[in-house]
Amino acid sequence: MPLAVQTENLNLTLDGKLILNDISVSVNEGETLVLMGKNGCGKTVFLKTLAGLFKPQRGSATVFGQNVHHLEHEELEELRRSMGYVFQKSGLFDSMHVWQNVVFALRRFSDLGVDALREKATECLNRAGLKNVEDKYPSELSGGMQKRAGIARAIAMDPKLLLFDDPTAGLDPVLTDAIADLIIEIKKNLGSTAIVVAHDFNLAYKLADKIGLIVSGVLHSVMTTEEFRRTTDPYVEQFREGRLVGPIPVIE
Ligand SMILES: Nc1ncnc2c1ncn2[C@@H]1O[C@H](COP(=O)(O)OP(=O)(O)O)[C@@H](O)[C@H]1O
Ligand SMILES: [Mg+2]
Repeated sequence: MPLAVQTENLNLTLDGKLILNDISVSVNEGETLVLMGKNGCGKTVFLKTLAGLFKPQRGSATVFGQNVHHLEHEELEELRRSMGYVFQKSGLFDSMHVWQNVVFALRRFSDLGVDALREKATECLNRAGLKNVEDKYPSELSGGMQKRAGIARAIAMDPKLLLFDDPTAGLDPVLTDAIADLIIEIKKNLGSTAIVVAHDFNLAYKLADKIGLIVSGVLHSVMTTEEFRRTTDPYVEQFREGRLVGPIPVIE
């Protein structure tokens, strides 16, 4: 299986603090890696580093064979077009209609006219389970619908790599399950690889081929879903069972 993503000894410091500590992980094409870990352990920073938004001090991040941090601006833009990023907070522009949000990047990178763009927006919104919301503003959507609109935007360029940052934050269990199904469906349709930051175990177990636990910027372990559910590794056990006492520090 060809590799979609590989990091080697990735080290990233922000404001003098080591945030990512020697992270080495690989994801095969078509696989789903779920990343879990306490608030503030470095999950979002890791995704942003893969997308080229942070530059590591040491180590490398390779996406589809290209070293993300060695690319010229244009090349990075090109690589980014193959990545769909669903931000933790939906990241939609309040002042734009939903359909304009969805095709925001596409408008920049294609020569499609307004009608074609709108059609594409409708198609992506429908794929994300939204109907008749094109002309609404994001603030007029419920939290769950905003998440779906964020997903619709992320798939507008048919990305080969999907990065989901806590796509079910703040959603109830039923909506969480619906988003899990949606991610599975989208992945299947696009044939893409996915890295999903998740806090919800049902979501993680449903989506993951493998699950990685980050503890204070260290990728403590990567296991198959089955292994993660059963392991007696003290870090994973503490996290899985939500115990205060154990090797994972309460405060990062
Ligand atoms: N732009 C930034 N500048 C400085 N520190 C940051 C920045 N973004 C995140 N951090 C710090 O990096 C650490 C990890 O944050 P983050 O990746 O957002 O955690 P989470 O696992 O909850 O997504 C935190 O200590 C956070 O304060
Ligand atoms: Mg985060």
